[in-house]
Parts: sequence; C-alpha cells; structure tokens
Amino acid sequence: MLSPLEEIKNKLDVVEIIGQYLKLEKAGANYKALCPFHKEKTPSFFVSPSRQIWHCFGCNCGGDIFTFVMKIENIEFKEALEMLAKKAGVKLIPESPQLRSQKQKLLDINKEAAIFFENNLWQNKEVLEYLHERGLKDETIKEFHLGWALDDWRGLSNFLIQKGFKPQEIIASGLAISKIEPAEINSKTQNIRLDSARQVEYRIQNTDIYDRFRARIMFPIDDISQQVVGFTGRIFQGKNPLKTIKDIERIGKYVNSPQTLIFDKGTILYGLSKAKPYLHSQGETLLVEGQMDFLAVWQSGIKNVVATSGTALTPYQLKILKRYSNTLTLGFDMDEAGEKAAERTIELALAKEFNIKILRLEKGKDLADYLLREGGKNQKESSLLMNKLLKQAEPIMDFYFERAQTMGDKNTIEGKKTIATYFLPKINRLNNALDKSFWINKLSRLLNISEGALEDELKKISKLSKKDLRGEAFDKDESLYQFPVSQFQPRIEGIAERIISFLIKSPLLKKNALEYEEYFPSDFQKIFQVIKNISTEKELNWENLKNLNMADELKQKINQLALKADYETELLEKFQVSVRDELEKELKELKREAIKKELTDIEKEIRLAEKENSKTLEELIKKFNQLSKQLLT
Ligand code: UTP
Ligand code: MN
Repeated sequence: MLSPLEEIKNKLDVVEIIGQYLKLEKAGANYKALCPFHKEKTPSFFVSPSRQIWHCFGCNCGGDIFTFVMKIENIEFKEALEMLAKKAGVKLIPESPQLRSQKQKLLDINKEAAIFFENNLWQNKEVLEYLHERGLKDETIKEFHLGWALDDWRGLSNFLIQKGFKPQEIIASGLAISKIEPAEINSKTQNIRLDSARQVEYRIQNTDIYDRFRARIMFPIDDISQQVVGFTGRIFQGKNPLKTIKDIERIGKYVNSPQTLIFDKGTILYGLSKAKPYLHSQGETLLVEGQMDFLAVWQSGIKNVVATSGTALTPYQLKILKRYSNTLTLGFDMDEAGEKAAERTIELALAKEFNIKILRLEKGKDLADYLLREGGKNQKESSLLMNKLLKQAEPIMDFYFERAQTMGDKNTIEGKKTIATYFLPKINRLNNALDKSFWINKLSRLLNISEGALEDELKKISKLSKKDLRGEAFDKDESLYQFPVSQFQPRIEGIAERIISFLIKSPLLKKNALEYEEYFPSDFQKIFQVIKNISTEKELNWENLKNLNMADELKQKINQLALKADYETELLEKFQVSVRDELEKELKELKREAIKKELTDIEKEIRLAEKENSKTLEELIKKFNQLSKQLLT
C-alpha cells in the first residue's frame, strides 16, 4: 500500500501545482521561472515534470511539491500535507483523530454559521440598504459572503443546535458564550462524573448558551484554503433600538471571533485567500485597516490588498506577506495616533527589508468612505481615485522627513533637537548604509548641523535599539516559521554535486571517474557507489531510480542532483563545452580540494607532533611533501 504522501505525489503534478503560483516557461524537458524566493532577473528556478521536483540554482533551494507549498505559503509541513491531500482527493489518517475531528467540527460550525448569516442579510432590507448607502455593491456583498447576525440572543445557537451541534462545540467555535461560569461547569462535570458517562452530554444545556454576535454585520474570515475559520462583526442599528444590546456606545463597534482551535488573529489577514494571486503579479501589497476599507479598495478594482482586523501586524503575518511582494503600501490613517499605532508594524517591516510607502489621505478621511462616497458609487470613478492615491503614495522616509519638519522650528536649537530626536531613530532603522548616509546628509542640511554631530547621536541610538529589535517575541516568531535552506556548502561538496550530476546524465562517463573515487566526500561516496553499480547506459531517470533498492533519502538526493544535471548540461550546451571535458576538469578540481583538505589536517598533526616531540613527525612531513607535489601537477 502506498503511503498518503506517495499517493498525493502520484496524483498531483509538480508543474501544475507550481504553475498555480508562478509563470512557468518551457525549457527543454523542464520548466523555468523567476525564483519567488530570491530576487533575480534571469530565471534560475527549474521545475522537472519527469522527476517531480523543483530547484533554484540561484539560491540553492529545492524539493518536491510539499517543500514548495510550505515555502511559498509559509506554512508548516502538516498544513501543506492537508492542503495537497485535499487537492489530490487523498484521505489522510489524522495523527490525532481527536484533535482533527474537533477542528473539523469547528470548520463545519463556521460554515453553517456563515450560511445562516448570509441568508439573514438578504432578508433584512434595512441592513442591505445601509451597506448600499455605504457604497457596497451586491456583487461585492455576495463575493465576500457578508451576513447579518440577528438581534436575538439565540438566533444562531438555536439554528446550530437544530443542525445537530452540541452546546460545548458551539462555545468552542467562539460563536456562542456560556452562561455558566467555567468553575460551575467544572463542579457540574465532577458531579456528573460520579454518575454515568451518558449524562456528561447534559452538563451544558442547550439553553445555557447565547450568541456572541448579535445585531452585527458579519464578515466571514477565510484561511488560505478558503474555509471560514472566524468572523468579524460590525454593530448595526436601524431605526429602532436594539433588543439585545443595551448601550450601543459602550460595546465595541467591531468584534472578532476569539482565539479557537482554528482561528488565530495573529496569523490571519482578511482577504488574503482572494488577493493572493494579485500580490505576486503586482509586486506590491496594499495593507489597510478593517473590512470596510478592504472591500472599498477591492471594489474599486485594486486587488492587491489585504486587511488587518483591529490588531497590529504580527511578524508572522509580515512573513506571509514577504512571500508575495517586497513593497508594502500602508493605507492607514497616519495622524499622530495612527503613526504611533503603526510604529511596531513599520519597525518589523523595515527589519524584514520591505519597502514601505504611505498612502496620503486628507486629514481625518476614511479610505472606505472617501472611495465609495466621494468617489461616487460608480466603479470607474473610485478606481480612478484609488489609482491616484496609489501613485501619490510616499516612501516612508519622505513621509517622516516631512513630518519631522512640523515638529519644531528648525531655526532654534530646541527645535533642531526636537526634529533630530524624532528623525534620527527613523534613520537608525534603515538597513542600508547608503540610505543612512543619504538621510543624515539631508537632515544635516535641513538643520544646518554637521553630519558628524548627527552621526554621533545616531551611534548612541543605535546602541540602545539593537537590543530592542532582538527582543524575545521577535526572535521566537522568527525561528518558529523559519524555513531551512542550505545556502552555504563547502566547495568540495559543490564540485562533487556537479560531478555526480554529470554522471547521472551520462552514466557511461563513470569510468572516467573511477580513479577519483577516494576523493569524494563521504556523503557522496554512497551515491557514487550506486552509480557505479547500475547497468543503465542511458540517463538515470526517476522510474528506474525508484525501483532501486536503497534508502529513500538517497533516492531523493540523486533525483535532486539529476535536475541540477539538466540545468548544468543546458548551460554547457549554451557555451559549447562538452560534458566530458567539464567532467574531467571537475574531477581534477575534486582531487585538488580533497588534497588541500588533507594537507590542512596533516599540518595540524605536524604541529601537534612538534609539540610532543613525536617520532611520527618525520613521516608526517614526508607525507605532506608528497601531497603538496601532487597539487602542483
Ligand atoms: P474605524 O472605527 O475607523 O472603523 O476603526 P471603520 O473601518 O472605518 O468602520 P466603519 O466605517 O465605522 O464601518 C478602524 C478599524 O479598527 C478596528 C476595526 O478593524 C476597524 O476596521 N476596530 C475598530 C476594532 O477592532 N474594534 C472597534 O471597536 C473599532
Ligand atoms: Mn469608516
């Protein structure tokens, strides 16, 4: 029987999967594209349909469909597995059936709730009118499945119970709240435990729960695979006072689902599942605050947009965004309070080397209302407005520089200090020395203060803030979601890889390599043995490799090297160099590297022997001289 992993691999095609993210171009037997994981102008990212793997020769990373999806979606292996299993129609046997079914329950509940809310909305004229009045079109309301949570204590709860869900499950989904205090539940449970298991079901009665979201316009929140994992609700009151809300002024205008097994505010970005393809193609992401702004921008035709919902951006979210583009345009209100609120986001984004731009809105203007109301409700006009705004977006340092000048009088010493105190920390956050120097110079001219004095101040700040950025939270998030890529490898291994890849391509050439066998690094010895022992004279393909009796890990390594071979031979052809010549050259190089390494080892031994007056000294020196001579030939 095949493992689910193999089954998924058999059913899915690497070209098709990667093709959903990148524009692939045919290149001989393979496909190539610009690598999404590093900056480049000519493609060195290769996908091999016959070997079902990918590799980037620019940043030296590669793997199969799983590693690709993990890296591009920035998800863990488990999530990638689930995602691809779904695509392949393969049933996974869950690691922990209990947790798995709990999660699935919550997904089911959210799905039903979304349908319930959506139906309510289309039956409530007043709410619809309000949304229309705010400029949203039916098309948009439908596309994002907006809904309405009734002004009722148990509207949703009753519906879900009717559907067969248990009160505990509805509480766990965050959609209902228990009237009983947790302590009470515990004591009840304990009492019941004395009784029979059957009664545990009754520990929370159907009537013990009430709806969390009441009288709210509901925005379902999708995860990356477009399943509803949570909700945001905006309060709405029509002509009549609300039944279930006493003091509308005292509750939050917006409320999100609480943290649940499937919902974590810090990892979700509203709209990402829909905007994903546009982020790649635009190379730029517009980040706005809240669902209304998001929908307004989306409706105006700008699709490379995502939204936060009432939280500061987390390092995790930034990491996700970094997969798609390097430029973030912040559509936040950047008045003084807004700037403070956005500070951490900006700091983190700069540390991740995003280019940041700021959307200029007139003071106090709200993006959604500006686009939808003032832009008129027709799409052309709001689209024009939005494009104009995007064009006027200002690089963050320009924005700060302008703001700095409003902070004090540049002609008084006090004013100069105020301006410098505001602006120097901004310079300090820049990663690039040229950028730093550029802004120091600009500030120096503005304030008429020497660059030297400003640099002295900058040094003081830099000492203080380095610690800050390496703060625990930041580090933790970094390491949690880091994807390991081997960027660095000893030169000898690079050479061995090339040699092996040539031999995979042309096994007949293996006799040329026989006399160099001893020089292969140990990891490659095994692979060389495999190649030495196979009888095929043609290229070693995945089919006959699969059937060889050896460790999976080894097979995969060889498969990986085979793609390298395709790439290498293509290059050689381009420069009209024969594989045989290149192989000879690399074999000699391999020998030199191996000898060099041995020489360093002997040198160490010689030093030791000298110290200890050992008798082996003479022998060692002889060996050293012999080996050195070999290097000269
Ligand atoms: P705003 O009050 O500016 O809301 O808060 P808005 O998006 O313009 O919404 P409308 O126009 O009144 O419908 C900005 C964002 O802050 C978060 C929400 O994400 C909101 O979109 N927020 C606001 C909350 O999380 N809770 C609140 O009580 C208020
Ligand atoms: Mn608003």
